[in-house]
Amino acid sequence: MSIELIANLSYILAAVLFIFGLKMLGHPNTARQGNALSALGMFIAVVAGLTAESIVSFEYIALGVVLGAVFGALASRLVAMTSMPEMVALFNGSGGTASLFVGWGTLYGSEINTFTAFTVVLAILIGGITCTGSIIAYAKLSESLGPLPFPSGAKQFPGQRIVNSLLLLAMVFSCIQFCIEPSSESYWLFAVLGLALVLGIMAVIPIGGADMPVVISLLNSYSGIAACAAGFAINNNILIVAGSLVGAAGIILTNIMCKAMNRSLLNVLFSGFGAAKQGKTIEGDVKPISVEDAYYILEAATNVCFVPGYGMAAAQAQHVVKELGQILEANGAEVSYAIHPVAGRMPGHMNVLLAEADVPYEQLVEMEEINPRIENVDVAIVIGANDVVNPSAREEDSPMYGMPIINVDQARTVFVLKRSMASGFAGVDNPLFFGENTRMLFGDAKESISGVIGEFG
Ligand code: TAP
Repeated sequence: MSIELIANLSYILAAVLFIFGLKMLGHPNTARQGNALSALGMFIAVVAGLTAESIVSFEYIALGVVLGAVFGALASRLVAMTSMPEMVALFNGSGGTASLFVGWGTLYGSEINTFTAFTVVLAILIGGITCTGSIIAYAKLSESLGPLPFPSGAKQFPGQRIVNSLLLLAMVFSCIQFCIEPSSESYWLFAVLGLALVLGIMAVIPIGGADMPVVISLLNSYSGIAACAAGFAINNNILIVAGSLVGAAGIILTNIMCKAMNRSLLNVLFSGFGAAKQGKTIEGDVKPISVEDAYYILEAATNVCFVPGYGMAAAQAQHVVKELGQILEANGAEVSYAIHPVAGRMPGHMNVLLAEADVPYEQLVEMEEINPRIENVDVAIVIGANDVVNPSAREEDSPMYGMPIINVDQARTVFVLKRSMASGFAGVDNPLFFGENTRMLFGDAKESISGVIGEFG
């Protein structure tokens, strides 16, 4: 058996592992094995790639592997759960940049036909947009770029779309010129690169805070497509397969998020949702509640539904939430956890946290499942969720109009656990806090819940 055949068989095995791994990632019970399976697939693919291709220098590759492994291990250990989207943004940017270089490198040392030129320019173009777009996405999410502060909101200026359209046109023109006469020294190639880097910045600048996770998922898809193009450029099957999988998975996820916010992708990309934090001011009385009083109401409840949001992640309250859930169950209450598809800051954020705390998966209910029976819930405990339970999404004049929410305001009693009256990520005031049946339990969610647990003795 030739080395090439072994490599190709290994690629097929790796592709199968990727596909099964992805499938297993779809359920919390199998997600860990799915991740391990995909990692094994990647390891096989890398080893096969190193044996099959004519490698110029193993020293640099070894150095890259060591540096990458150290960086990856440190990042996964040190980065807080709440900062995962930022990390994913950086990883997407790295993927795009790597594809850009792989595509570019193809131009050196071999004859370039029009098809290869096309795939190279595609890898450079999409890789370049992903690179700078991801850096801006990272800066917006972390509200800093290195030592400099960076505003997280959408930034729009007059004529922005015209400027972006002209950039796009110039880029397409440069791509065509390069493909007509492909060469590593072509000025058109540098024009494509420069325009792609600028377009990456210009495309993400007008997108605002709450829409950033969608952008990250889209950039993730771009990084896959760039890898796929690079795979065609160097004629590497596993890069094509892996790139397509990432590209497709990213676009599916983007679509799921847009649907959950009842927005179209075009609206997310061009509406500048976070540009102005608008919405009418709500007036009324807020009814704060003490930990003791919350205990008395919960003690008598027979149906309790937890509705977690970003604040649960920020407070790291998942373990005490589970503990309270168990106490309530032992007290005879039916307990459920209602999960909104965009609660938190990344897809599946709440599922991951609750799984980490060993909350039984059967107790998790989706928004569509809980809403029809929310009126039977005695107490809905909103833990650091805000936008995903904001009833103003039902009002036509609200900037959030149309976003599906968990209708906690229709439960018999609602406890809202948060530290202040501040609005959520979308910056829209929440009339839930003023509801007749709402009681505000102010404070850090973990401390408040620990206090209630303490009352149960
Ligand atoms: P948010 O609307 O962001 O509200 C989180 C709330 O948590 C804040 O109002 C904050 O109020 C509270 N909080 C923060 N730290 C806390 C702590 N230590 N203890 C208690 N409360 C704390 O969260 P959400 O309801 O989960 O909504 C998610 C948002 O992200 C939506 O706008 C959604 O569209 C957007 N988004 C999410 C995704 C994904 S995939 N998850 C994708 C795209 C967009 P205080 O400051 O008063 O405490």
